[in-house]
Amino acid sequence: MSTVAQDSGLHARDVHVAFGGLKALKGVDLKLKRGEVLGLIGPNGAGKTTMVNVLTGFQAATSGDVTLDGRSLSGLGPRNVARAGVARSFQAARLFRDLTVRQNLEVAGIGSGRKRKAARALADALLDWIGCAGKANLLAGSLPYGDERRIGIARALALSPKYVLLDEPASGMNDQECDALMRLIAEIPDRFDCGVLLIEHNMQVVMGACRRVHVLDNGKSLAEGTPAEMRANAEVRRAYLGTKSDHGQLI
Ligand SMILES: Nc1ncnc2c1ncn2[C@@H]1O[C@H](COP(=O)(O)OP(=O)(O)O)[C@@H](O)[C@H]1O
Ligand SMILES: [Mg+2]
Repeated sequence: MSTVAQDSGLHARDVHVAFGGLKALKGVDLKLKRGEVLGLIGPNGAGKTTMVNVLTGFQAATSGDVTLDGRSLSGLGPRNVARAGVARSFQAARLFRDLTVRQNLEVAGIGSGRKRKAARALADALLDWIGCAGKANLLAGSLPYGDERRIGIARALALSPKYVLLDEPASGMNDQECDALMRLIAEIPDRFDCGVLLIEHNMQVVMGACRRVHVLDNGKSLAEGTPAEMRANAEVRRAYLGTKSDHGQLI
């Protein structure tokens, strides 16, 4: 496995992904650091989920490379990428519906090498943190949407990742739930020593949680800067023009 000295972070270089004739990513460079929440935004179809799939080993890049602290993740596949320290949540939470909430987190904790007791302690600490301590013994399949989303994030963190990638964690949430989620996400780097890549359409959430935002459009990096800079950026505004109303709130 190749290593590059002094390249800390989760680093994508010149990543291309083609689905047959469709080029979903066309040379994207992205760097996520351990102590930050980096926003990843862009219109529908820009390639955000494809990028998360590449960074987590769910999708092989057609060309280009992803390194974690200088070590190439190419060819590792999702399980080994997670083991190396990159976890994710999905657009749909994908919890084990017939297990309890606590068991869902315990399974992740055990999967990352903890003993049963330690996994349970971690599960309870995570449930406390997300405000779901009282729901530990409920079946995951019985939960309202907002809880399910937060538990999906807690489950990713139960793997003790160095980086966690969150794909639209606030979609379908009301303003109050969004607000609470934003505060939790902003705490992740310090509390868990874990960098966060946050894909999010709701600019309130992005502004609240991220100091830096990377904008994708049509498979390419368009710009990177603070949320305020991105809102003011003419090219970014142009990319969102003519897109459907669910992005109207962004700019
Ligand atoms: N598995 C796939 N097969 C074919 N095309 C895909 C696949 N996944 C994504 N795409 C296409 O790649 C482009 C980028 O999609 P995606 O990464 O989901 O964008 P975003 O998450 O920014 O909305 C879209 O045109 C989408 O239709
Ligand atoms: Mg997507």
